[in-house]
Amino acid sequence: MLKMKVTLIAGSNRTNASSTNLLRYIDSLLEAQNISVQFVDLSELPLPLFSPDNWDFHPNVKHVLEAIEEADGLILATPEYHGSVSGALKNALDYITGNQVAGKAVLSVSSAGGPLGVSSLSHLQTIIRNLHGINCSQWISIGYGSNTFGPDGAPIDVGMKDRIRDAVGSFVDLTRKLTPIAAAAN
Ligand SMILES: Cc1cc2nc3c(=O)[nH]c(=O)nc-3n(C[C@H](O)[C@H](O)[C@H](O)COP(=O)(O)O)c2cc1C
Repeated sequence: MLKMKVTLIAGSNRTNASSTNLLRYIDSLLEAQNISVQFVDLSELPLPLFSPDNWDFHPNVKHVLEAIEEADGLILATPEYHGSVSGALKNALDYITGNQVAGKAVLSVSSAGGPLGVSSLSHLQTIIRNLHGINCSQWISIGYGSNTFGPDGAPIDVGMKDRIRDAVGSFVDLTRKLTPIAAAAN
């Protein structure tokens, strides 16, 4: 049976990162909808620093690029670092040169030490725009280093839970609209 394929990239290389926990919760929401998910955690899959002088890519880089290429849609998570995305995520995105992202729906999510991480989200959407991806109209920001996920992996705050469900729903709808195969899948 056809399934929508979504790749999630966790852009924090911190142990027990809140942005990665948020992405794991999103993973559970997608799998509950019978969507096929590939989870790429850059803390477990470190990538060498991108250099335009080296196109003989490390196996970890090939793995990430394949996961992006195979996906109908992408969800990218970043911590807010100095008002921008993490170096680890930016480095991963620098490896993209072809059509791996073009025309695909992308949802950006972030975690900040302050109340909101919208600077990193804006920067991430600019990067996606330059890779010819289609930014989802919603995004998700969790603030104050919020790492309050219950034993089931869901956020303890009910408002945040609803917000995440809405944003993920709009991402899934956009992916269906943009991808004929994803639209045909359940
Ligand atoms: C190098 C660095 C820079 C940071 N810059 C900011 C910042 O500009 N704004 C902010 O709100 N928090 C900032 N923080 C705090 C992180 O965004 C916050 O701890 C976040 O929850 C980390 O996400 P993670 O748990 O996914 O690693 C910074 C943290 C580090 C380590």
